[in-house]
Amino acid sequence: MATDPMPRTPRLPSFPPGFLWGVSTSAHQIEGAAAEREPSVWDTFSAEPGRVKDGSTAAVACDHYHRHREDVALLAGLGVDAYRFSVSWPRVDSPGGLDFYDRLVDELCAAGVRPVPTLFHWDLPARLDWLERDTASRFAQYVARVADRLGDRVRIWITLNEPAEHTLLGHALGVHAPGSRLLFDALPVAHHQLLAHGLAVGALRAAGARDIGIANSHGPTWPASPEPADVAAADFYDVLLNRMFAEPVLLGRYPEGIAELLPGDVEADLEIIAEPLDWYGINYYAPARVGAPQGVATEFGGVSLPAELPFAPRPIEGRPVTDSGWPVVPEGLTELLTGFRDRYGDKLPPVIITENGCSGEGLDDPGRIAYLDGHLRALHRAIEAGVDVRGYFVWSLLDNWEWAEGYARRFGLVHVDYATLRRTPKASYAWFREVLRAQR
Ligand code: NOJ
Repeated sequence: MATDPMPRTPRLPSFPPGFLWGVSTSAHQIEGAAAEREPSVWDTFSAEPGRVKDGSTAAVACDHYHRHREDVALLAGLGVDAYRFSVSWPRVDSPGGLDFYDRLVDELCAAGVRPVPTLFHWDLPARLDWLERDTASRFAQYVARVADRLGDRVRIWITLNEPAEHTLLGHALGVHAPGSRLLFDALPVAHHQLLAHGLAVGALRAAGARDIGIANSHGPTWPASPEPADVAAADFYDVLLNRMFAEPVLLGRYPEGIAELLPGDVEADLEIIAEPLDWYGINYYAPARVGAPQGVATEFGGVSLPAELPFAPRPIEGRPVTDSGWPVVPEGLTELLTGFRDRYGDKLPPVIITENGCSGEGLDDPGRIAYLDGHLRALHRAIEAGVDVRGYFVWSLLDNWEWAEGYARRFGLVHVDYATLRRTPKASYAWFREVLRAQR
């Protein structure tokens, strides 16, 4: 990672009392033990040649399934309040699957770390398809089973992770599982996931849950210039990434022009989708600069976008970039949060940053420390500006399998040697531990 080598003071401004500090992972990216569960769409996809850049699969990944005790000890050593992990639906569908999460939750509670499960983080059972409406009700049934088993110890729940990316990358552009290239015909996938979210909130409430959120990915969208064509393209991108996923949940409506493109009784579904949430989760990595299409394919964050899209991403110049090629723009987080507060007012519940972090090599990782330090300061500025933010989770505890990028992108506070599966805390782990100590 090319970085700004500036040394940072360890003392960050004080966050509000009760602020929830955590780290995040997801099942498919760390668990491994693929033979001990039903297949997911990602197993099928990554087995196809050419789909994953280094040709790898997540069959072993960090082998967290067998090494969870060691990983819980790393969490305890770090001193986080909470651990966001995901529950794998294909594993829950397999014998002994729920037992695994039951043990993990027990170990986390024993270590004084709050379990924060995400119920869907892209690893759909291979036999299912989000193009089918019925997948939403099946999801709610699976959620009810998980809540029934873990609900006595889990207080904070997350329904879905980044339905925007799962729709756009997985179904519109075909660069993630299941690999469909449907472009705008992928819209039902977004709607069915949002419906699944609403039905899951209902299932969780029926099981007595009182602390429920969603983890949506958002970022400011900057027009490439003040020219009307660039502004219109940036607005369009803002609808696709931000508004189409925030507004059904927060306001009970789709941005103009979207509902007409969706199947079913959308008005009735929106009532379910807009079930009130206790908090709203935001994954933030970087803003996007977007201009009018130029009739050619463009590259965006390692993804090639077809020429026929009505917008074209443009580079953000003059910033350090992470190994993933994403610009480091901490103040984008302040802008995003104050922008959300201005846009949604009292319809926006308290916010938790459910993911933030960067890819980069090395056990000594000043680039990651600078990234996290900058984003925490930017987050604090949003709080000072009056945005009600209640927590922050670093992506990620461990280096892990970064989807179509394979093992080549390392996001962890802890290094994983994939040959030996040995875990080694990085400098950023020690830094974050000191940040947490200083906040108490
Ligand atoms: C978003 C996703 O939720 C997570 O799975 C991924 O690894 C990180 N961002 C980094 O790309």
